[in-house]
Amino acid sequence: MFVCHCGSNIGGVVRVPEVVDYARRLPLVRHAEDNLYTCSDAGLSSLRQQIRAHELTRVVVASCTPRTHEELFRRACEQAGLNRYLFEFVNLREHCSWIHLREPDRATAKAKELVRLGVAKAALLEPLERSRAPVKPACLVLGAGVAGLAAATSLGRQGFEVHLVERTLRLGGLVAELFRLLPGDRPAADLVGSLAGELGRSSHVHVHLEASLEALSGFVGAFRARLRSAQGPLELDVGTIVVATGARELEPLGLLRHGELDGVLAELELERALVAGRRDFGNVVFINCAGARGPERAYCGRLCCAVAIKNARYLAELDPRARITVLQRDIMAFGTELESEYRRAREAGVRFVRFSPERPPAVLGEARVRSVRVYHALAGEEITIDADHVVLTTPLVPHPEAPELGRMLKVPTDADGFFLEAHVKLRPVEFATDGIFVAGAARFPADVREAVSQGMAAAAKAAAPMAAGEIAVEATTAVCDARACSGCGDCERACPFGAVALRQEQGGRSVAEVNAVVCKGCGACAAACRPGAMQQRGFDDRQLMAMVDSLAWDEERGPEPKILVLACNWCSYAGADMAGVSRLQMPPNCRIVRVMCSARVRPELVLAALTRGIDAVLVTGCHPGDCHYSEGNYHTRRRALVLHELLDLLGIERERFQVRWISAAEGAKFADTVRTVVQRVRLLRAAAPGGER
Ligand code: FES
Repeated sequence: MFVCHCGSNIGGVVRVPEVVDYARRLPLVRHAEDNLYTCSDAGLSSLRQQIRAHELTRVVVASCTPRTHEELFRRACEQAGLNRYLFEFVNLREHCSWIHLREPDRATAKAKELVRLGVAKAALLEPLERSRAPVKPACLVLGAGVAGLAAATSLGRQGFEVHLVERTLRLGGLVAELFRLLPGDRPAADLVGSLAGELGRSSHVHVHLEASLEALSGFVGAFRARLRSAQGPLELDVGTIVVATGARELEPLGLLRHGELDGVLAELELERALVAGRRDFGNVVFINCAGARGPERAYCGRLCCAVAIKNARYLAELDPRARITVLQRDIMAFGTELESEYRRAREAGVRFVRFSPERPPAVLGEARVRSVRVYHALAGEEITIDADHVVLTTPLVPHPEAPELGRMLKVPTDADGFFLEAHVKLRPVEFATDGIFVAGAARFPADVREAVSQGMAAAAKAAAPMAAGEIAVEATTAVCDARACSGCGDCERACPFGAVALRQEQGGRSVAEVNAVVCKGCGACAAACRPGAMQQRGFDDRQLMAMVDSLAWDEERGPEPKILVLACNWCSYAGADMAGVSRLQMPPNCRIVRVMCSARVRPELVLAALTRGIDAVLVTGCHPGDCHYSEGNYHTRRRALVLHELLDLLGIERERFQVRWISAAEGAKFADTVRTVVQRVRLLRAAAPGGER
């Protein structure tokens, strides 16, 4: 046991020698010492030395946060010949001294208890091995729009084999159908031509036109893809995949009399006519937000305003006598370039008229468009605008086959049907599934510049494991004890990555099997397994239960409530760290136990804690949609509903088990939550017969 003063960060509040003395008296502790800085050269060399001198088989360091220092201490253990997974971390700084600055006695008592919990878990740690899996240096790029072309050319340039798969007969996707691009008024064909030209010069890129993905198996490093193509089926082995399948313009058929009156066009129909050389459009009214920002499609199309501005200006410059009007709810022209395009359009004579969604424009005419009637909000009256053509600016919508492709790749789509990245800010071009990346409008309406940069970013991400030639496979994955497995398949359903599958044993019995390369170690399957056959290495039931037991055990059962916080590693544990870093003070009643995802929390663990004398259990996780394992916290939310009903049956107050979503930045929310839970438990205690639970 190594207890760190962290200068005065811990030692200025917690009486470290007293904690060391306490640790020394715990069963199984062979050696305990304090260090001014355990992470310093002197601290690490003492750690290595003591491992050898005492032949230590487990090491616990009580210092700062594992989020920054775990790797350092694990490496030191390894250097001394101890398996890196026989190490346990106790956080005495962010979770104790920094948040109880004015309560040294209670902080010291809490530190002792945290140390005891750490030892309880450490005693049950098992040596684990990290393995490595080879990565084939070949990438499958789905979609040959500009994002796919950018990804394919970038990877080809780096010497990786690339298979570029395109459904149609043409490269360039939607952009290939456009007339000119903003900013710069460059013909769209030039951009597609230069990307396609580079592709043609690369001997590493194989283009498969009129082809699509039919089936996919395998995992990062070793995917096997089956393509359906005009030339017949094709099997490919690739290490990584980039999804750049793009989006479609919403076809406004039936909307604002499109398809009914001649002269009502979609934006893309106008672009195609311009590409074909047509220039006689007369008076034109553009109607923005057609089919967007309404009950059916709540999102803003992002690009629509820019497209309308571009085309309206072009038509106004083409025929200065024509009256060109843009009807808009508001104008989204981001950045100085689009702002100046907006100004140029107005200078060219384009009139912008604002309408409200409550009084939308009406297209008038018989057989052919004649005019548009709209309520002019500023004039406070209805106006009628003569029109030879009406152009509907509609949003991009997801590719119709995105859900099917998502199922094949085992990657999620969002509520609108676009592909959903692993994390909107931290992993914007990655899926939660290793080795699969996303770029361009497949994710969300993206303009050409965004699509190209995302294509390049996805290529860079895909190149990393291919350049290394192998990936490290995390050791804290799930593992199934086939003897205890009932073959119910709950674990398979709980796994968001498709890492668990049932296999038939001889005799027809089904047992779950984990693919360690695919498993990300969230523990959702272990929590779902009723017989307890499925476990998560490093966070197994025995280890977590030992911590609960150790916490429930109390020499001097005091008057203060004791609260167990089970915090997910990625957001809420970091949120607790943030509370510490911000020195937010809170009552010292909480003991934080780290799990990788809130989905790891097994109902039995909560019940054991509550029935063994712990006053309340608080499970904290990432906000919905932010879970590091994509949907782990949805499992947590569902389990919480069931657990609350179970608590009703057992006569345990619901407030004793709570779930909260806390992000890494929400230190204040963490502190508030702790204060509220402690206050609530105090009231429950006071209301209980005898004044105590
Ligand atoms: Fe935070 Fe899943 S990782 S809830």
